[in-house]
Amino acid sequence: MSSSQLLVALDRDSSVPLQQQLCDQISGSVRTGRLRPGDPVPPSRELAHQLRVSRTVVTRAYELLRANGVLTSRRGSGTRVSGAPTDMPPPARRAARAHLWPEPPLPTDAGSPLWKPWEPAPMHRPDGTYDFRHGTPALASFPVTRWRQSLTEAVSRADAVALGYGPAEGSPSLRTQISALLRRSRALDAPREHTVVTSGATQAMDILVRLLVGPDDVVIIEDPSHTVLRQIFGYSRAAVVPVGVDEEGLRVDEIDPQVRAHGLDPARVRLIYVTPSHQFPTGFIMSERRRRALLRWARAHGATVLEDDYHNEFTFAEERLASLAADPQDADVVYVGSFSKTLFPSLRIGYAVLPPHLVRPFLGVKWITDRLTPTLTQEALAEFISSGAYARHIGRMDRLYRQRRARLLEALYEHFGAGVRISGTAAGLHVLVTLGGAPDADEAAIVRAAAARDVRVYPASGYFVSRPPTEPTFLIGYAALPTARITEGVALLAAAVRDVTAR
Ligand SMILES: Cc1ncc(COP(=O)(O)O)c(C=O)c1O
Repeated sequence: MSSSQLLVALDRDSSVPLQQQLCDQISGSVRTGRLRPGDPVPPSRELAHQLRVSRTVVTRAYELLRANGVLTSRRGSGTRVSGAPTDMPPPARRAARAHLWPEPPLPTDAGSPLWKPWEPAPMHRPDGTYDFRHGTPALASFPVTRWRQSLTEAVSRADAVALGYGPAEGSPSLRTQISALLRRSRALDAPREHTVVTSGATQAMDILVRLLVGPDDVVIIEDPSHTVLRQIFGYSRAAVVPVGVDEEGLRVDEIDPQVRAHGLDPARVRLIYVTPSHQFPTGFIMSERRRRALLRWARAHGATVLEDDYHNEFTFAEERLASLAADPQDADVVYVGSFSKTLFPSLRIGYAVLPPHLVRPFLGVKWITDRLTPTLTQEALAEFISSGAYARHIGRMDRLYRQRRARLLEALYEHFGAGVRISGTAAGLHVLVTLGGAPDADEAAIVRAAAARDVRVYPASGYFVSRPPTEPTFLIGYAALPTARITEGVALLAAAVRDVTAR
């Protein structure tokens, strides 16, 4: 389909805002297959002209569709359909809802943005690709032998109780250990009764959305943010409204205007997702002032704040701020954490610290989702923490990541000079790097040129819903690469950028 042929008919007499009608019609076209993944949609200026509406109507509709995973924008290739919308059921299922029949899950297949085949990290291959993938800890340095000991101990102690169904909230010994860790490292004094073990942070977030958010509600996400969150929240059929982020974190003063700009009511905001200790992907740390403003807004609107502390143990700044949930100031704050970055992702253990009134409903959904997180793994992890092996591992990783981070920053400044801008250095396992010296090169061309030299880098613009970076920007993970390979990899990346700019 050529981009100028987009068939949209707006009803100016309808009470449904024009922008919402446009969203609905584009979503409908994707659902029926009239628009397919990869199809371009017209530039906003062109479509606004065609429909005789202001350009803002179109840009806001596109923004909402991007936030819900329906459209995607890339510098150089415009706005395209990314996959089937996940925010609403197809019409046949919607009719079924009237009969209160349980709905089958929406299909996910290779064509849907919810799932794609897993691509193994090439850094594990012997050919020695320089992979600056973010989100992967130094798995080669994980103390597998010590972990095996914890597993063996958990299995040898297992009795009939440990082998049966167990408490949905998780094993008491692990919950005690998690409570103690959070008290020490995040000043979060949460009693064990409010701490629930989940299968990764992802499950905790999914359960919260199912629990708190209905079809006409609004979820606020940070812009930029991780695409997986837009998928989790988009699946709820709520409107997902992106709100900008600056060096102080979420722009709380923009929540009301943004929600209204999408034709929605701020009173319908049920959930506000934030990453205050290391904003994903910018790495900004939310200021005290902004934290207070956020909690005030949430309290006044009865919204729940979801604090995703995905990098919780790795902070390199002198001063560490407590978690938001440590002092919620009468707002409902759910703290979500994970062992995916501190230990390893395939462990699939995360946790949520909940306000007391949410504990039972949360466990109700956990029970129907997967009953409980595997007990023997929980017991092994409790032993690993209580024996001191966890603290030793974190200490070692903290030193290792500091060295790798310092080497990465030195190498970037050495090769890209004053033109490079780096954010997010104070915490976490990645930095956001803008190549200010290469304004004419687009991210995709740099990715290709780098791949030709065996270097993998990851463009950042897909994480931005509105205002994607105007200069090539990458998320560079450093945790899994030894310092010598970081040095070589950055030199090769610089050569790749020269290849592109010389063309
Ligand atoms: C920002 C953010 N939150 C949450 C998660 C989910 O972590 P888990 O593996 O515990 O489900 C990730 C995973 O990469 C992440 O990047």
